Amino acid sequence: MALLSVLTPVLAVVLCVVIGFMLVRSRETETTATTSPGETEGAPKADFRPWVDQDLQDGTETKGKDDEDGDWMDSNEEEDILHVPYSPPGYPVETMLERSKDFYTLMNQRRSVRFISPEPVPREVINNAIRTAGTAPSGAHTEPWTFVVVSDPETKHQIRRIVEEEEEINYRQRMGDKWVQDLSRFRTSWIKEYLDVAPYLILVFKQIYGSLPNGKKRTHYYNEISVSISCGLLLAALQNVGLVTVTSTPLNCGPQLRLLLKRPANEKLLMLLPVGYPACEATVPDLKRKPLDGIVVHI
Ligand SMILES: Cc1cc2nc3c(=O)[nH]c(=O)nc-3n(C[C@H](O)[C@H](O)[C@H](O)COP(=O)(O)O)c2cc1C
Repeated sequence: MALLSVLTPVLAVVLCVVIGFMLVRSRETETTATTSPGETEGAPKADFRPWVDQDLQDGTETKGKDDEDGDWMDSNEEEDILHVPYSPPGYPVETMLERSKDFYTLMNQRRSVRFISPEPVPREVINNAIRTAGTAPSGAHTEPWTFVVVSDPETKHQIRRIVEEEEEINYRQRMGDKWVQDLSRFRTSWIKEYLDVAPYLILVFKQIYGSLPNGKKRTHYYNEISVSISCGLLLAALQNVGLVTVTSTPLNCGPQLRLLLKRPANEKLLMLLPVGYPACEATVPDLKRKPLDGIVVHI
């Protein structure tokens, strides 16, 4: 009996330790289970910012000093916004059907064209296409895009030199056999004549954060998704006026092209689009697109 009364407090302590240990373990498991992709294991949850950190990265972008320090704007520093009535054009159903079909027909003719004519294109047409791209939605209306339009032959040539130099290494070393094999049917290579020939090269930069006149930084939520949407609109706008381009994402060229074009450290290259009329001898791979029932699920 005496032994039991001595042991009871000891047992109670041991029981408490065991329960405590089990609770800690279950909380750890919960945290691991909710760790999102891109979140560093062991990193404090508060540091995880999916709207900026889940961007596709090419892994080569070295973080500039400007990226790391600096003063961030508080949301209470934002000006209030007036809300105004909105009445976009509406159409009768018949017209809607017709317009939807016409637009699909137009866009279904879009192809990535790697043979571009040197024939000049009016600059205002390009500006209007970029205005269209600038109508894209963006995270918290941050409009995190910069479109650098290059028509200067010397700059185009320097871009070609940088891209071809990196692309040769990409094809020979970085991409690996499978990727190179997958691309072979498109007959692409590291030689990019269109970078000299096309009247315009549009280099689309995503601004990973905003720089305000007062020196503070502004969070650019989902900047890559926003800029990608604006690129889609740009492609549609070019198609609408009979111009062609090829969407290109030259691997490992971003930092060099950013420096060449004197873009600030908060801008990262997302896409390079050579733009012009199609060359008269242009060919494209005879690709087929998935039918509607292969891409839609109605529930
Ligand atoms: C994100 C993205 C990156 C691409 N990168 C390249 C590229 O680096 N070089 C190239 O020749 N084509 C590139 N393309 C074009 C694709 O090869 C092309 O869109 C695909 O073959 C379908 O052909 P279409 O655009 O004529 O429909 C890219 C397309 C996308 C969407």
